[in-house]
Amino acid sequence: MAEFICFPALQSKTRASLDHYLEDGGYRSLKQALDGIAPADLTALVKASGLRGRGGAGFPTGMKWSFLPKQQELPVYLVCNADEGEPGTFKDRDILRYAPHQLIEGMLLACHAIGARVGYIYIRGEFQEEAACVERALAEARGAGLLGKDILGKGFNADLHVHMGAGAYVCGEETALLNSLEGRRGLPRTKPPFPAVVGLYGCPTIINNVETLAAIPPIVANGPEWYVGLGTPKSPGTKLFSVSGHVKRPGVYECRMGTPLMDLINGDCGGMREGRQLKVVIPGGSSVPMLTAQEAATLSLDYESCMEHGTMLGSGAVIVLDDTVSIPHLVQNLGHFYAHESCGQCTPCREGTQWMHRILDRLVGGRGKASDLDLLLDICKHVSFRTICALGDAATGPVKSGVTKFRSEFEALVR
Ligand SMILES: Cc1cc2nc3c(=O)[nH]c(=O)nc-3n(C[C@H](O)[C@H](O)[C@H](O)COP(=O)(O)O)c2cc1C
Repeated sequence: MAEFICFPALQSKTRASLDHYLEDGGYRSLKQALDGIAPADLTALVKASGLRGRGGAGFPTGMKWSFLPKQQELPVYLVCNADEGEPGTFKDRDILRYAPHQLIEGMLLACHAIGARVGYIYIRGEFQEEAACVERALAEARGAGLLGKDILGKGFNADLHVHMGAGAYVCGEETALLNSLEGRRGLPRTKPPFPAVVGLYGCPTIINNVETLAAIPPIVANGPEWYVGLGTPKSPGTKLFSVSGHVKRPGVYECRMGTPLMDLINGDCGGMREGRQLKVVIPGGSSVPMLTAQEAATLSLDYESCMEHGTMLGSGAVIVLDDTVSIPHLVQNLGHFYAHESCGQCTPCREGTQWMHRILDRLVGGRGKASDLDLLLDICKHVSFRTICALGDAATGPVKSGVTKFRSEFEALVR
């Protein structure tokens, strides 16, 4: 069952102000760190907690921080990825709305660890209301001496700024985000060099997701062993899941890693709509392979179980669909999204997503050919892992899994 251990403000949804956050023990971790945790020790602490990036790739956070060059003259930047564009994902917006100070404290702790004095919060363009909540919290923090110069009188200087995106999914990809932040067109950059070495304005930069950064204050407050103990040995801690689709109670839930998926669906989410059967679950955002009801029955919410089931935990967006859903229509809908959002920089993604979209339109419109199904799978092969960023790969997830697992539904449309 969901417990809201690391993100208590998401349960009450009423304690976003600085006063509430302070009452609940907020900014104590920052004080503790500035009082006596050296930057390298703070990075080691985050490493020991096993925290993995919650933006989708699940990369170990402490390890990412340790990739920063040890000796260099350039400033280091921290960037918070609040673009949250993956269809089905809506957990970061709850942090921005209901726990903005937890994010600010997490960012200040990260700044201390990595030696950054400036951080940017890149917020999805549509999140006007969420951006206002963050701006309000930043003003409160600044007014209380928790942001800016000589934070808490400890000689630590760090400031955070909000930057609004302009509504492009690809700008959630970390290097496209950096280009966008610099005022350029949001096109992904080739890697290496990775942002930790050459990032914002050519300087070393750490980019982390909202949930990743906001998880740091409870980890510092309670210790890494506590966090490890909340999850499984390989997937420590808890994770926020945005559950949408045909369940009775969709919403954002915090679960311990390793929680059985069906406990979340049938427990917190109240099960399927009346009289309907589970057909498909997409466990990690629209780009990860879908699971049949039978496969979903044995899945637990952690990185390893998802891998064993041939899918990914991604951003933790659990899309639950019942037996009223036509898989070809679902795949066509997602295909349209990815074709629209491809930035066009890499030929396989630009051409492949458009081509798949046209074939899917044809199939759903009753004008498909039997050979279209294998053609779709063949295009997937030529798009996956042949592009600068993972958008092309993301576009193939629903197509490959949909056509492979529900081939008869596509064939019926051809007939
Ligand atoms: C097309 C695309 C879109 C992405 N969108 C987001 C996003 O909206 N939010 C996010 O945190 N990460 C997103 N990512 C992942 C980021 O590139 C990056 O891995 C992440 O921000 C790193 O933070 P983390 O280590 O804390 O997860 C996206 C990646 C791709 C390829």
